[in-house]
Amino acid sequence: MGSCFSSRCKDKNPFKNGQSSDLYGLSLSSRKSSSTVAAAQKTEGEILNSATVKSFTFNELKLATRNFRPDSVIGEGGFGCVFKGWLDETSLTPTRPGTGLVIAVKKLNQEGFQGHREWLTEINYLGQLSHPNLVKLVGYCLEDEHHLLVYEFMQKGSLENHLFRRGTYFKPLPWFLRVKVALDAAKGLAFLHSDPVKVIYRDIKASNILLDADYNGRLSDFGLARDGPEGDLSYVSTRIMGTYGYAAPEYMSTGHLNARSDVYSFGVVLLEILTGRQALDHNMPAKEEKLVEWARPFLTSKRKVLLIVDNRLETQYLPEEAVRLASIAVQCLSFEPKSRPTMEQVVRALQQLQDNLGKPTQIDPVKDTKKLGFKTGAKVQEKGFKQKPFGRHLV
Ligand SMILES: Nc1ncnc2c1ncn2[C@@H]1O[C@H](COP(=O)(O)OP(=O)(O)OP(=O)(O)O)[C@@H](O)[C@H]1O
Ligand SMILES: [Mg+2]
Repeated sequence: MGSCFSSRCKDKNPFKNGQSSDLYGLSLSSRKSSSTVAAAQKTEGEILNSATVKSFTFNELKLATRNFRPDSVIGEGGFGCVFKGWLDETSLTPTRPGTGLVIAVKKLNQEGFQGHREWLTEINYLGQLSHPNLVKLVGYCLEDEHHLLVYEFMQKGSLENHLFRRGTYFKPLPWFLRVKVALDAAKGLAFLHSDPVKVIYRDIKASNILLDADYNGRLSDFGLARDGPEGDLSYVSTRIMGTYGYAAPEYMSTGHLNARSDVYSFGVVLLEILTGRQALDHNMPAKEEKLVEWARPFLTSKRKVLLIVDNRLETQYLPEEAVRLASIAVQCLSFEPKSRPTMEQVVRALQQLQDNLGKPTQIDPVKDTKKLGFKTGAKVQEKGFKQKPFGRHLV
């Protein structure tokens, strides 16, 4: 974590940039009538005033994190470093380490381009939305050049750490928890997409799915979220933002964003959960760097799917369960956005998988495969996928 204390933090999102002129062009998260096509605009003051979270002073957060001590760092992303801290549960004032409410304090890297916009967007959405599968925002701080966000601490860290960190301390996440976390994240996304919320999250990835003490999965990081299309519109036009390896191909090529773009990214996460491989891994041989491209040929039959299941799972899963998860992923990864399921449908499919874990007679993989177009879809998608490749150097 040494770089947290140098002037730069690593940027894990190479296609986030901050050359925006519509800094305050965040639309109201309270709902508009469906006939209102243009999103009402909120000023920074309105966003901060309407957020139901605390405004902290910089000094309070300094005290809560023991002066942002190096050994308080719990993570680091494109926005900046994340520190562990403690607050009194009722007064939300700094308290002794190890007592009261544990918090995660995200401190904007002051040289970051995208920072202020993402900071405000996060408060705009998380400051008002509340759901068991969304991380809770406790408050924020804006003082001089300091931008900070304060969240409830998620004790088990990110899904990314549980899937990809190797080492004796990190045991691979067991199969039943992988299914649970996938379902939790799907519920969070389905809530965002539902009426009247209608928010597009735009940054679904394993590092943004955090786990609390009971391994409940919760979505964090709303810095790229957008209100979905209104009225007759089927998409919103945006600057292309997100994370390589997860973004939907049509979004990458057109900037047209709708809820089905999130569904695609969720499909990538399902593949990560199934294979234990990262969406984009430059340490892999060139042909295996992009998970979706590498996995697609294996997603055409039950026998082949079983060849790519994370072998650290050993005998924890029934083959038909892995096939079922893969078939849901294939649907989410359809090249044609309209062929992708809604998150509501994904929740139902994952719920059914979870309810039947360990019951070989309850799931008929052949029937399920057929129903989900498991064999037919993949070929078409693969062809389309190759027509529009994307990668680090695009945008
Ligand atoms: N509320 C939290 N509780 C516990 N750990 C957290 C919390 N928020 C973030 N973290 C940790 O900090 C890490 C960095 O989070 P952050 O959201 O800043 O970056 P990221 O998601 O890894 O990458 P990116 O900036 O590209 O989105 C997370 O992966 C997680 O391990
Ligand atoms: Mg994150």
